Amino acid sequence: MEKFTIYIQNTGESFVCLEGQSVLRAMEVFGRKGIPVGCRGGGCGVCKINVSEGHYRTTRMSRACVSAEEERAGTVLACKLFPASDLTVEVLGCMGRALTAGTPCTRPGATKDGSDDGKREVRD
Ligand code: FES
Repeated sequence: MEKFTIYIQNTGESFVCLEGQSVLRAMEVFGRKGIPVGCRGGGCGVCKINVSEGHYRTTRMSRACVSAEEERAGTVLACKLFPASDLTVEVLGCMGRALTAGTPCTRPGATKDGSDDGKREVRD
């Protein structure tokens, strides 16, 4: 089974993702943080990231969360993202800005550790 390294630009952290495992699942399995976790099913959009380097495939993502144009530019949902090589990613939206600036996100439903309660839809 192949292993890939996922590097999060916003935080400088990295973790291993196994072949066939979603990036979000790998982050959780290895006890890492950095990408907000919500529904885990492609419906809430809180795990939205941009892949700047590497090869990958995605499974079905809600168009309410990722437009076709965004998808063409490398924006994906981490819970629906499966690496085919090492990846460099950037966390998007309020959570990404909070990570970069070191300030907590103040959106409703956000928690201090960058996770999310998954009870709302997020659109940026
Ligand atoms: S965790 Fe909800 S879309 Fe990925």
